[in-house]
Amino acid sequence: MKKKAAILGVTGAVGQEFVVSLKDHPWFEVTQIAASERSAGKKYLDAIRDPNTGISAWQVRGEIPDYIKEMTVISVDEIKVDELDLIFSSIESGAARDIEERFAKDVPVISTSSAFRYEEDVPILIPGINDEHADLIDVQRKNRNWKGFVAPLPNCTTTGLAITMKPLYEEYGAKKVLMTSMQAISGAGRTPGVSAIDVTDNILPYIPNEEGKVKKETRKILGKLKDGKIEPADIKVSCTCTRVPVIDGHTESVFVETSKPIDPASAKKSYEEYSKKISVNGLPSAPSFYYAVHEDPNRPQPRIEREVNDGMTTTIGRLEKEELFDHGIKYMLFSHNKKMGSAKGAVLLAEMLYKKGKI
Ligand SMILES: NC(=O)c1ccc[n+]([C@@H]2O[C@H](COP(=O)([O-])OP(=O)(O)OC[C@H]3O[C@@H](n4cnc5c(N)ncnc54)[C@H](OP(=O)(O)O)[C@@H]3O)[C@@H](O)[C@H]2O)c1
Repeated sequence: MKKKAAILGVTGAVGQEFVVSLKDHPWFEVTQIAASERSAGKKYLDAIRDPNTGISAWQVRGEIPDYIKEMTVISVDEIKVDELDLIFSSIESGAARDIEERFAKDVPVISTSSAFRYEEDVPILIPGINDEHADLIDVQRKNRNWKGFVAPLPNCTTTGLAITMKPLYEEYGAKKVLMTSMQAISGAGRTPGVSAIDVTDNILPYIPNEEGKVKKETRKILGKLKDGKIEPADIKVSCTCTRVPVIDGHTESVFVETSKPIDPASAKKSYEEYSKKISVNGLPSAPSFYYAVHEDPNRPQPRIEREVNDGMTTTIGRLEKEELFDHGIKYMLFSHNKKMGSAKGAVLLAEMLYKKGKI
């Protein structure tokens, strides 16, 4: 029998992507959907209409799946937790704090929000990158006397950086990283989102709170779990995060200084080896290849890469030796913020935790 799942924040940018990622899922079935009081009581089709214009604000490529159209959106207070095996939560972080805690007392909560990411007994998980940190969930359950738990994904800008840094940190002793992001509009969500008049034909040079999150999360994800705590990775991270007029998918320009010699060919080989042995291979939402490394200098491009493996592959291009450092490399990456970076990545995380017996 399939595990019964709820989606919280089902009307939002990430929530809509959850609807698609969980359609016909072999292990999980969506039985309850919730959003704010604004949407509660409405059929899903009506709930995603823009309240000002009445236009259907479906933001995902392709049709709205039939299974959800007539389902009624409820408020989080109406969720029947005793009829659930797990919850996917994609609500704004302020509201998420209380709501996720309330449900985690009883069931696993897989979250895309930042509400719990920086707590000592909460891992920030990227399936395939730091699966061993999932053992911190047992500590969390014990500490808080919860039957469930909160398992957050990172910020969607951290995702691509941490995924591409993993082999560079483990194999080449990466010690400093400098990143500039070009982030998609959908990363800001629907409410309030980025104003069209601000971002069209423009680049916004600042995203509040984003850079601090990327620095902290990258170090935590690449760190080691020891004696029930995560020791952050010994790596310095600096970044500038910008918003660009791209609908889906974050692009990042990255410079990395390593302690061991590195060159583009060996880095490419490392990514290909990691792809072959990545832990999530074979899971229902896993891509057929985790990393794609291109020698064509015209890659990555959001319009091309977001279609590859349904947005679950991290693309790397422009891999070049960086002469500024004794040992170092630079590259550009693409990571889909709503697929691997949130909704479908969260489903992949649930699959990984299910296999580990945590769900
Ligand atoms: N967008 C991305 O690419 C991305 C990537 C990674 C992580 N995240 C994180 O994921 C979360 C969701 O982001 P998003 O972009 O999907 O935001 P969004 O488009 O603004 O959607 C927010 C959702 O939360 C619901 N909501 C707001 N306040 C609520 C409350 N008090 N109780 C219940 N539901 C409430 C909204 O319902 P109504 O429609 O009824 O208002 C809506 O469904 C955020 O924490 C964000 O930081 C986003």
